[in-house]
Order: sequence, then C-alpha cells, then structure tokens
Amino acid sequence: MLYSTLRRFLFSLSAENAHDISLWTIALAYRLGLLGWGSKTGREGKPVEAMGLKFSHPVGLAAGLDKSGDFIDGLSALGFSFVEIGTLTPRAQPGNPHPRMFRVPGHDAILNRMGFNNKGINHALERIAACKESPIIGLNIGKNLATPIEKAVEDYLHCLKLGYSSADYISVNISSPNTPGLRELQYGDQLANLLEKLKNQQLALASDGKYVPLAVKLAPDLTPTELGMCCENILKHDIDGIIATNTTLDKSAIQGARFSTEAGGLSGAPLTIPACSMLREIKRITGEKVSLIGVGGIMNADDARERIAAGADLLQIYSGFVYRGPSLIGDILKVLRESAG
Ligand SMILES: Cc1cc2nc3c(=O)[nH]c(=O)nc-3n(C[C@H](O)[C@H](O)[C@H](O)COP(=O)(O)O)c2cc1C
Repeated sequence: MLYSTLRRFLFSLSAENAHDISLWTIALAYRLGLLGWGSKTGREGKPVEAMGLKFSHPVGLAAGLDKSGDFIDGLSALGFSFVEIGTLTPRAQPGNPHPRMFRVPGHDAILNRMGFNNKGINHALERIAACKESPIIGLNIGKNLATPIEKAVEDYLHCLKLGYSSADYISVNISSPNTPGLRELQYGDQLANLLEKLKNQQLALASDGKYVPLAVKLAPDLTPTELGMCCENILKHDIDGIIATNTTLDKSAIQGARFSTEAGGLSGAPLTIPACSMLREIKRITGEKVSLIGVGGIMNADDARERIAAGADLLQIYSGFVYRGPSLIGDILKVLRESAG
C-alpha cells in the first residue's frame, strides 16, 4: 500500500533519478533507525546452504542496484539475506552517457545500458569494512571498459585478489551486454582460460584458511549448445555456483512499447520464462555439483516458487524489487514457507 503510493511518485521521475532517490531514502531510513527489526518481521524463511555458505533464507538482491557497495546496511535491513554488490571494476568508471536506464511499465520491465558505472573495487571494500549489518555479501566483478578484451583476465584476477578476504562469495560477470566484447568470455578457450586462472587464484588464496566460493553469471541469450559447453567448462573447473541470468538482448516481448528500440539489456517480466527455462536446463546438466542462483523476472511469489522447483538454491531480485517494492521479499518467503509445509 505504502509502496504503491511511493511508486507513483518514483515512476514520475526518470528511471535513474528514481533509482538514486530510492537508495538514498533507504540509507536515510536506516540511519534514522526506521529499518531493522520491524522491516524484517515476516521476512523469516528457511535457512539454505549453498556454495558452502549458510543463508538465513533464499532471497537476495541481484547485482547492479548497489553498484559500489554504498547501501549494504539499508538493503540488508529491508530483509535480503544476501546482497550482491557491483559490478565492480579495478578502477572507478562513469559508465555510459545518460539516459541509460528506462522503465517499460506496461511490461513490468527495465531496459538498461549502464555500462558498469562504479566507484572501483577499493571504494567498495572500504564500504564493506564500514558495514554494521552482516548480510552475506557477494562481490560481482568485471573488467574496465578501457581494458582490451584480451587483457580482461587481468582485471578479474585483480578484483578477485583484492576482494577475496572481504567477500563471502565472488560473482564473475561475463554476461553484461553493455560492455563491448564481455560476452565473448562465455565461449570456448576464452572461458576455459578465465576459469582456470580464477580457480588457481582462488585456491592459492584459500590456502591461507578462508575458502571464498566463485559463481559465474550467464546470459539468457546463449543457445542450448553454447549453454551446454559453458556448463561443461564450469564443472571442469570446479566453480561453486552459477547465476542465471543476466539481462537479455531479445526485445521481442516489448516490441512497439516506448523505449523498445533503445540499446541495452532487458530485465523484468519478459525474462521470467526464458530465465526459468535456462535454469532448469542448467540443473539438468549440472545436477547437484554446482549451487544455482535463479534470477531474471522473479516478479511475484509464484515466479519464485517455480524457480525453486526448476532447481534454484537461491533467488535474486532486481526488477521485481523496483515494481513491487520491499514487500516482495516477504511475499516470496511466505509462499516458500507454505509450500515447504
Ligand atoms: C539497471 C540495471 C543494472 C544492472 N547492472 C548489473 C551489473 O552491474 N552487473 C550484473 O551482473 N547485473 C546487472 N544487472 C542485471 C541484474 O542483476 C539481473 O541479472 C537482471 O536484471 C535480471 O533480473 P530481474 O529481472 O529481477 O531484474 C542490472 C540490471 C538492471 C535493471
């Protein structure tokens, strides 16, 4: 009720202004003590173990909302059991020119071409160190725009090394459509080389005592053959988790709608079916060997239940959070509690 009123105001602003104002409002509410126990009531769920970590319940925040880790406390106090920050790059970068984020309300969708705007990994690590809340924190890492694709591995290794001791898990983003060439890393030798180097680095860092799992985030636009090869590579390199999916380049679902011809990746309701099908296929291929994080078009509790039935251990939301507000977390957990009996 409260969010539907607030949403009317937020949706009268440009998508990126609404995004910024929402995050600063959450941060202010947190500082004033207005979030916390009260906002978490009804957001209890069944604990889940995935990637060797214990989550208080399965609902987390997807990457891209808190790009630099500035809002972890407030977002955690809203009830997410884990918050994935980023995508973070070695150096701060401004991202693409504005406007670069568009709501498509008739389709409960968002189109974006942000381009990894973030304050750099060092800034995020300072923010994590200053956190008062203790959600599980995923660090989503990528490459700077200026780094040629042949040198991308160096950026990922840099972020992995720097972020390792501060993160609970590291998410390797090779599926954003808004950094030219990035998605090439999902294929063949480029993927094998990246995963091998990251795995070796992870094991070397783990020898000091703390094992931080690695998850790979995939695009929904892979063909079944490409997806099969990706999964094979992920299994071969003992990667701990797969996050499916990022945004899609397929805009057929919003054809004719305002902004439908803008460049960028589409998220929200148009992704519900493709992201769920892809997750089901990943589960079929990988079985129990990898933890699965389902994301993409989880707009209501039924979508969440279906994603769990398709094989997800954990869920993430982004567009659903924008369209339904924080109560979506409680709605999902309620249905999951009921279906668990
Ligand atoms: C405005 C916006 C920015 C995003 N930025 C990132 C990002 O930096 N890194 C990333 O891995 N995913 C990013 N995503 C993708 C989301 O994490 C998620 O995978 C995708 O939106 C599908 O989920 P949804 O349908 O719940 O939104 C972004 C999504 C949106 C809408």
